Amino acid sequence: MNQISYGLKDKVVLVTGGSRGIGFEIAQKLLEENANVIICGRKQEGLDKAVALLKGGDRLMAVQCHVAKESEIDGLMSQISERYSRLDILINNVGMNLMTASTIETDLGLWTKIIDSNLNATFLCSKKAAMLMKENQSGKIVSITSVAARRAAPGMGIYGIAKAAIEMMTRVLASELAMVNIQVNAVAPGMVRTDFSKPFWSNDQFYSQIVKYIPMGRIAEPIDVVHPVLFLSSAASDYITGQTLIVDGGSTAI
Ligand SMILES: NC(=O)c1ccc[n+]([C@@H]2O[C@H](COP(=O)([O-])OP(=O)(O)OC[C@H]3O[C@@H](n4cnc5c(N)ncnc54)[C@H](OP(=O)(O)O)[C@@H]3O)[C@@H](O)[C@H]2O)c1
Repeated sequence: MNQISYGLKDKVVLVTGGSRGIGFEIAQKLLEENANVIICGRKQEGLDKAVALLKGGDRLMAVQCHVAKESEIDGLMSQISERYSRLDILINNVGMNLMTASTIETDLGLWTKIIDSNLNATFLCSKKAAMLMKENQSGKIVSITSVAARRAAPGMGIYGIAKAAIEMMTRVLASELAMVNIQVNAVAPGMVRTDFSKPFWSNDQFYSQIVKYIPMGRIAEPIDVVHPVLFLSSAASDYITGQTLIVDGGSTAI
């Protein structure tokens, strides 16, 4: 499966949160495609580690940036403009959850933190990226949401609310940007084997409970998410916009 090619050579692609997990794997596959890849993260140490592993040479740029902070996104976009004078593809990959026992007992500070890093970050990055893409009358925006957007999961209430809003934002932006040839889509994974979900999949008891509800009998590996993201980033999906592709081994089908 890794030999599938998406025709992304020389494309300029920003992968938010590409220093580990799903974003890292997306960056790796994009580099195999000979795309120009920009990754970002909050911690320089994580970025340095990713750069060493990805071995992208001149095709890889790593920028420290907190994607919920507008001034930092402006700085990131300026660096991309200066180097490439364009942005072809944005992958809104950053997302985080802080377990919330009960939504009504959550204070505004925690609510805001989760909404900021998921919803507001996706809004800000999409807005700034679309400005650059509009200059070329061409672009792709792909956001990573979650099956938590459509199923109320314990501890993930606010995260699910934010991801559901991103799916609506995907439809709104798709309709607003269709006439400037920018397609906006999302990919909604079930559980994926990354640090984010490690407390669940690394515990044998939890894992066997989780896979009981997945017809394919396993959680996703990051590469299972990478391929749908690259399809939605490629010319193969040019007539698809405003959609969310669920990648969950069939769990929401039953
Ligand atoms: N793993 C799953 O089971 C699963 C399931 C469904 C959906 N998803 C979604 O898939 C996406 C990727 O998840 P993942 O599992 O790969 O997560 P992960 O392993 O926790 O990696 C998150 C990445 O984002 C960066 N990051 C986090 N907050 C950031 C911020 N505010 N600004 C900039 N960078 C930030 C992290 O680097 P720093 O820490 O250095 O900032 C890291 O590179 C997320 O949107 C998540 O909600 C994951």
